[in-house]
Amino acid sequence: MKLYREKNYEAMSRRAANLMAAEIIKKPNCVLGLATGSTPVGVYRELVKKNREGDISFKEVETVNLDEYRGLSADHEQSYRYFMQTNFFDWINIRPEKTHVPDGLASDAEAECASYDALIASLGGADLQLLGLGRNGHIGFNEPGPSFIKETHVVRLTQNTIDVNARFFASADEVPREAITMGIGSIMAARRLLVVASGEEKADAVYQAICGPITPECQASILQLHHDVVFVCDEAALTKVYEAGGSLC
Ligand code: GLP
Repeated sequence: MKLYREKNYEAMSRRAANLMAAEIIKKPNCVLGLATGSTPVGVYRELVKKNREGDISFKEVETVNLDEYRGLSADHEQSYRYFMQTNFFDWINIRPEKTHVPDGLASDAEAECASYDALIASLGGADLQLLGLGRNGHIGFNEPGPSFIKETHVVRLTQNTIDVNARFFASADEVPREAITMGIGSIMAARRLLVVASGEEKADAVYQAICGPITPECQASILQLHHDVVFVCDEAALTKVYEAGGSLC
């Protein structure tokens, strides 16, 4: 495990964007696993800048997103497809057909999950998977629970996640109750994992992910078993890790 401790959100974003840009330069046709949430917004902004300045090209890049709310259409302002378009895809030279997000409106959700796994397999898995962390340690929408689920699956969101994500909706009632998420198997199969975290409200999740026991109660703790995982965090997100000695990492 490698840990970058950055001064603030901007520095975290630049560091993570540089690591992703390096991957694209090394392998122009790489497969990038992408994440949503407020944390990676700055990373995408930096990557857009690099693309516009001609430092990197997304022409041959293919992307697979981690998750999508069930019941939201691609043009719903809170859907993750909409998030990806407006924060990233619309601003870079990626081919639209090379961007993939689970279909939240699929009538047969099980079939959608199976075909998403088939798609990831057909691409040979992600070269680099970007991950944010839920405050409860979720990755994608893999929520705390009794087990790690390997495949893409439908998940019932926890009340904690609904409450936390309610800030993006008019009220908590409007937050979808279900989502489709890539499973822990596909995430762990990525050749490199890049986890970004910012702010004190993530300090506990970061501590549990990096230093805690490996347990499905903190889904991100399984990342400790990956052979190439990089955490890029700002100082606030690392407060608990450093209180505990820091050298643990
Ligand atoms: C959502 C997403 C996660 C993301 C998490 C944290 O629940 N499904 O992939 O990591 O939010 O979001 P934020 O970065 O806004 O704290």
